[in-house]
Amino acid sequence: MIDIPDEPVPAGELVLSLRGISKHFGAVSALTDIDLDVHAGEVVALVGDNGAGKSTLVKILAGVHQPSSGTIDYRGKQVTLADPSAALTLGIATV
Ligand SMILES: Nc1ncnc2c1ncn2[C@@H]1O[C@H](COP(=O)(O)OP(=O)(O)O)[C@@H](O)[C@H]1O
Ligand SMILES: [Mg+2]
Repeated sequence: MIDIPDEPVPAGELVLSLRGISKHFGAVSALTDIDLDVHAGEVVALVGDNGAGKSTLVKILAGVHQPSSGTIDYRGKQVTLADPSAALTLGIATV
Protein backbone atom coordinates (compact mmCIF):
# COMPACT_ATOMS: atom_id res chain seq x y z
CA MET A 1 0.00 0.00 0.00
CA ILE A 2 0.94 3.62 -0.49
CA ASP A 3 1.42 5.94 2.46
CA ILE A 4 -0.75 8.96 1.85
CA PRO A 5 0.86 12.06 3.34
CA ASP A 6 -1.22 14.22 5.66
CA GLU A 7 0.66 17.25 4.44
CA PRO A 8 0.92 18.61 0.91
CA VAL A 9 3.65 17.13 -1.24
CA PRO A 10 6.59 19.60 -1.28
CA ALA A 11 6.68 21.76 -4.39
CA GLY A 12 8.81 20.32 -7.14
CA GLU A 13 8.62 16.72 -5.97
CA LEU A 14 7.79 14.14 -8.62
CA VAL A 15 4.24 13.04 -7.87
CA LEU A 16 3.07 11.16 -10.91
CA SER A 17 5.19 9.31 -13.42
CA LEU A 18 3.66 7.49 -16.37
CA ARG A 19 5.82 5.26 -18.54
CA GLY A 20 4.91 3.50 -21.74
CA ILE A 21 1.18 3.92 -21.33
CA SER A 22 -0.81 2.43 -24.18
CA LYS A 23 -4.54 1.93 -24.50
CA HIS A 24 -6.45 -0.05 -27.08
CA PHE A 25 -10.21 -0.12 -27.55
CA GLY A 26 -10.53 -3.21 -29.70
CA ALA A 27 -8.72 -2.37 -32.93
CA VAL A 28 -8.42 1.33 -32.01
CA SER A 29 -5.11 2.46 -30.54
CA ALA A 30 -6.12 5.45 -28.41
CA LEU A 31 -2.70 5.87 -26.76
CA THR A 32 0.70 4.54 -27.76
CA ASP A 33 3.72 4.55 -25.42
CA ILE A 34 2.94 7.71 -23.44
CA ASP A 35 5.44 9.04 -20.88
CA LEU A 36 4.40 11.86 -18.55
CA ASP A 37 5.84 13.32 -15.35
CA VAL A 38 3.89 15.66 -13.08
CA HIS A 39 5.58 17.49 -10.21
CA ALA A 40 3.92 19.03 -7.17
CA GLY A 41 2.85 22.60 -7.82
CA GLU A 42 3.18 22.17 -11.56
CA VAL A 43 0.39 23.03 -13.99
CA VAL A 44 0.40 20.73 -17.01
CA ALA A 45 -1.58 21.35 -20.19
CA LEU A 46 -2.47 18.34 -22.28
CA VAL A 47 -2.91 19.55 -25.84
CA GLY A 48 -3.84 17.65 -28.97
CA ASP A 49 -6.19 17.27 -31.89
CA ASN A 50 -9.66 15.89 -31.47
CA GLY A 51 -9.23 12.14 -31.00
CA ALA A 52 -5.58 12.42 -29.97
CA GLY A 53 -6.26 10.57 -26.72
CA LYS A 54 -6.40 13.38 -24.14
CA SER A 55 -9.59 12.19 -22.47
CA THR A 56 -8.41 8.59 -22.50
CA LEU A 57 -5.19 9.55 -20.71
CA VAL A 58 -7.06 11.59 -18.11
CA LYS A 59 -9.53 8.74 -17.59
CA ILE A 60 -6.62 6.37 -16.98
CA LEU A 61 -5.25 8.78 -14.37
CA ALA A 62 -8.70 9.04 -12.82
CA GLY A 63 -9.11 5.26 -12.58
CA VAL A 64 -11.93 5.14 -15.12
CA HIS A 65 -9.97 3.15 -17.72
CA GLN A 66 -7.14 0.67 -17.18
CA PRO A 67 -4.11 1.01 -19.46
CA SER A 68 -3.47 -1.84 -21.89
CA SER A 69 0.22 -1.57 -20.98
CA GLY A 70 2.61 0.71 -19.15
CA THR A 71 3.12 1.76 -15.55
CA ILE A 72 1.97 4.55 -13.23
CA ASP A 73 4.11 5.56 -10.26
CA TYR A 74 2.86 7.76 -7.43
CA ARG A 75 5.75 9.35 -5.52
CA GLY A 76 8.10 6.64 -6.71
CA LYS A 77 5.91 3.61 -6.07
CA GLN A 78 4.02 1.76 -8.75
CA VAL A 79 0.27 1.93 -8.29
CA THR A 80 -2.85 0.49 -9.85
CA LEU A 81 -5.65 3.01 -10.24
CA ALA A 82 -8.31 0.35 -10.29
CA ASP A 83 -11.27 2.70 -10.01
CA PRO A 84 -12.01 6.38 -9.38
CA SER A 85 -12.01 5.93 -5.61
CA ALA A 86 -8.48 4.52 -5.76
CA ALA A 87 -7.37 7.57 -7.74
CA LEU A 88 -9.18 9.88 -5.34
CA THR A 89 -7.33 8.31 -2.42
CA LEU A 90 -4.12 9.58 -4.04
CA GLY A 91 -5.64 13.02 -4.58
CA ILE A 92 -6.41 12.49 -8.26
CA ALA A 93 -9.78 13.79 -9.35
CA THR A 94 -11.30 15.17 -12.51
CA VAL A 95 -13.83 17.93 -13.11
N1 LIG B 1 -14.72 4.04 -24.87
C1 LIG B 1 -14.17 4.04 -26.10
N2 LIG B 1 -14.38 3.00 -26.94
C2 LIG B 1 -13.80 2.97 -28.15
N3 LIG B 1 -12.98 3.92 -28.64
C3 LIG B 1 -12.74 4.98 -27.86
C4 LIG B 1 -13.32 5.09 -26.54
N4 LIG B 1 -12.87 6.25 -25.98
C5 LIG B 1 -12.08 6.83 -26.90
N5 LIG B 1 -12.00 6.07 -28.02
C6 LIG B 1 -11.19 6.38 -29.22
O1 LIG B 1 -9.87 6.64 -28.75
C7 LIG B 1 -9.30 7.72 -29.48
C8 LIG B 1 -8.93 8.84 -28.52
O2 LIG B 1 -10.12 9.43 -28.04
P1 LIG B 1 -10.13 10.54 -26.90
O3 LIG B 1 -9.27 10.09 -25.77
O4 LIG B 1 -11.55 10.82 -26.59
O5 LIG B 1 -9.45 11.79 -27.62
P2 LIG B 1 -9.48 13.34 -27.25
O6 LIG B 1 -10.00 13.48 -25.84
O7 LIG B 1 -8.05 13.80 -27.39
O8 LIG B 1 -10.37 14.01 -28.24
C9 LIG B 1 -10.32 8.12 -30.54
O9 LIG B 1 -10.01 7.40 -31.72
C10 LIG B 1 -11.62 7.65 -29.94
O10 LIG B 1 -12.59 7.37 -30.91
MG1 LIG C 1 -11.56 14.56 -25.04
